[in-house]
Amino acid sequence: MAAQPRPPLLQVEDLEVSFALGRGRARVLDGVRFTLDAGATLGVVGESGSGKSTLAAALARLPQAGLAITGGRIVFEGQDLLRISEAQMRALRGQRIATILQDPLHSLNPLLRIGTQIAETPMVHERLPRAQAWQRARELLAAVRIANPEARVREYPHQLSGGMRQRVAGAIALACAPRLLIADEPTTALDPTVQVQYLQLLKDLQRTHGFALVLITHDLGIVARVCDRVAVMYAGRIVELGATAQVLRAAAHPYTQALMASLPTAAGVAGSLPAIPGQPPDPALPPGGCAFHPRCAQVMPRCRSERPPDVTVGPAHLSACWLNAEAARPAAAAERST
Ligand SMILES: Nc1ncnc2c1ncn2[C@@H]1O[C@H](COP(=O)(O)OP(=O)(O)OP(=O)(O)O)[C@@H](O)[C@H]1O
Ligand code: SF4
Ligand SMILES: [Mg+2]
Repeated sequence: MAAQPRPPLLQVEDLEVSFALGRGRARVLDGVRFTLDAGATLGVVGESGSGKSTLAAALARLPQAGLAITGGRIVFEGQDLLRISEAQMRALRGQRIATILQDPLHSLNPLLRIGTQIAETPMVHERLPRAQAWQRARELLAAVRIANPEARVREYPHQLSGGMRQRVAGAIALACAPRLLIADEPTTALDPTVQVQYLQLLKDLQRTHGFALVLITHDLGIVARVCDRVAVMYAGRIVELGATAQVLRAAAHPYTQALMASLPTAAGVAGSLPAIPGQPPDPALPPGGCAFHPRCAQVMPRCRSERPPDVTVGPAHLSACWLNAEAARPAAAAERST
C-alpha cells in the first residue's frame, strides 16, 4: 500500500483579519491560504502595510489591538486554532508555537533578569523546578551563542547589546522546544553583520531543534539565503507563493516581477524591497478587482472589477493574476479534451 502523504504541520485557509469601519469591517488580511511542512521555512515578503505583522500575530492568535480574526481556519497539528479555548491556546503558545515579534528589543521586560524571562516558560508550561528552569536558561543562552551564560543569565536587558538582546528573544522563543517559530522581521533593528550572524544562528537552531519557521522580512536577500518557499503579500493577500528559487528565477505575478526588476543588484536578490511607483492601498479603501491594478503595468479591463483567482503556474507555485489565469486556460482546456 502506498504511504499516505503526511499532513502539513500548519494549514491556513481563507484567513481574514479585519477592523470595524462604520457599519462594516475593513480587511487587513483577506483570504490568506498556505501550508507549511514540519521543519520547513516559509519567507513572507511584501511592502510596508501589506499585512505581514498582522499575519504573524494572527498565526499565534494574538491579533493587534483593534483587529479581529473574522474568518478562516488555522489548522496546526490537526486542530483549528480558531476553535480552541484561550487556555488551550495559551498552552500551545508556551509549548508548540513561539513568536519573535517585530521589535524584540522592546519585548523584553526591563525589570526582570534575563534568566527569569527565559525560565518562566518551562516553569509555567512544563512545571520544571526553578533550578532546572534556570539551568535550561543557561543552556539556551549558550545555544544562542551568548558568551559567559553563567553571568549573563543574572543580568538585566539594559546590560546587553542590541544583538545580545535579539539572541535572548530567540532563547525565550526556544525555551519550550516549539514546533513552529514565527519570526517577524527579527533582524531589522540590527546592523548588517549582526543580521547575518543572527540568521545563521536561527538556521543552526532550526537544524538542531527541527522547528518550522515562518520568517517575515523586507529583504529578498534573506529569503534567498534562508527560506525553502516564499509568500509574496500585497494588500492583505498572498499574491504569489512557491519554491524560493522558482519564484526568484521566474516570478509569475506582476507585483513580484516589479519587485525583482527594481532590485539594484545583478544577482537580483540582495537587499531590501525596492520602491515601486505608487502607494499600496489603504485597507479602508480597497480598490475593486485586483488590489494591485492601480500600480500594475499590465493591467487589463477585467482587473479593475474582478478579483483574480489563485492560479497554479508550476509545481506548488501559485499566482493570483488574470494574466496567469488566461495563460492557464488553453492548457486546462487542452487537458480536458484529451
Ligand atoms: N489596529 C489597527 N487598526 C486599523 N488598521 C490597522 C491596525 N493594525 C494594522 N492596521 C493596518 O493593517 C495594515 C497591515 O499592517 P501590518 O502591520 O500587518 O503591515 P506590515 O506588512 O507588517 O508592515 P511593516 O512592513 O511596516 O511592518 C496596514 O495598512 C495597517 O495600517
Ligand atoms: S490581475 Fe491584472 S492588475 Fe492584477 S497583477 Fe494581474 S495583470 Fe496586474
Ligand atoms: Mg510589520
